[in-house]
Amino acid sequence: MKSSSKNETKVNYGNWVSKRLIWFPGVLAIIFLALSFFSYYFLIVALPFIIITAYFSYAYYEFSPAGGNIQARIRRFVLDRLEWDGKGTALDIGCGNGALAVELTKKYPQAQVTGIDYWGGEWEYSLAACEKNASIEGVVGRTKFQKASATALPFEDGTFDAAVSNFVFHEVKDAKNKRDVVKEALRTVKKGGYFAFQDLFPVKQFYGNIDELLEEIKSWGVEDVTFVNTSNADFIPRPLKLPFMVGSIGIIYGRK
Ligand SMILES: C[S@@+](CC[C@H](N)C(=O)[O-])C[C@H]1O[C@@H](n2cnc3c(N)ncnc32)[C@H](O)[C@@H]1O
Repeated sequence: MKSSSKNETKVNYGNWVSKRLIWFPGVLAIIFLALSFFSYYFLIVALPFIIITAYFSYAYYEFSPAGGNIQARIRRFVLDRLEWDGKGTALDIGCGNGALAVELTKKYPQAQVTGIDYWGGEWEYSLAACEKNASIEGVVGRTKFQKASATALPFEDGTFDAAVSNFVFHEVKDAKNKRDVVKEALRTVKKGGYFAFQDLFPVKQFYGNIDELLEEIKSWGVEDVTFVNTSNADFIPRPLKLPFMVGSIGIIYGRK
């Protein structure tokens, strides 16, 4: 239960490492370590669980603001690619707890930002957390959050001056072809508007060949699109560059 007023003023943008990945192997490690009093064999069994617990604890710390703040830096990497002047409206697709949407609003004092998300599922994100974070960050009047799916965005073609998304498209379960999610996102951007989407674009099983993806995006009437491999960035610690962490992420950005 949150009892102190300090907690009420603290933003919560969540952590990409679920706490379950720490406590579940952690509990198993403790059980096997306890059993090793009866047989040394259980020490060997405990070892992989100790390593898994240690790895995910480290990753959790590096992602969090109290540690390396890597999540925020990866999000900033997205906004740094957005070549928008900040005048008008922007959409954040799969906004989670509103981190990127709020950051966007703070970066562009004239912008109105909408964040959409499906919420629920395995992520501990919510509409209430978005609204609370926006309030704490002082951007309530210029942010709006609503439930929607990335596969059927409830906006007319060309509604927004800019669109962003971070680490979402590959998660969209009802899209067999993840390129369709990119297309749907771009549909909502005005002609001449800007976009920067980060996802597992280098992973062929989701997006196929990256050059072919860029060509296809151009064939949808997009004027300019570029890919940058975020995983090569120096600010991401090496141990986090494993494929199942943030070792295969990149940004496609440009102008429609
Ligand atoms: C890894 S989290 C990223 C959240 C946020 N963009 C960030 O950077 O912290 C993935 C998000 O995608 C959302 N998501 C998954 N499928 C979705 C869908 N079909 N439509 C909208 N959001 C979806 C999840 O609810 C979750 O908030």
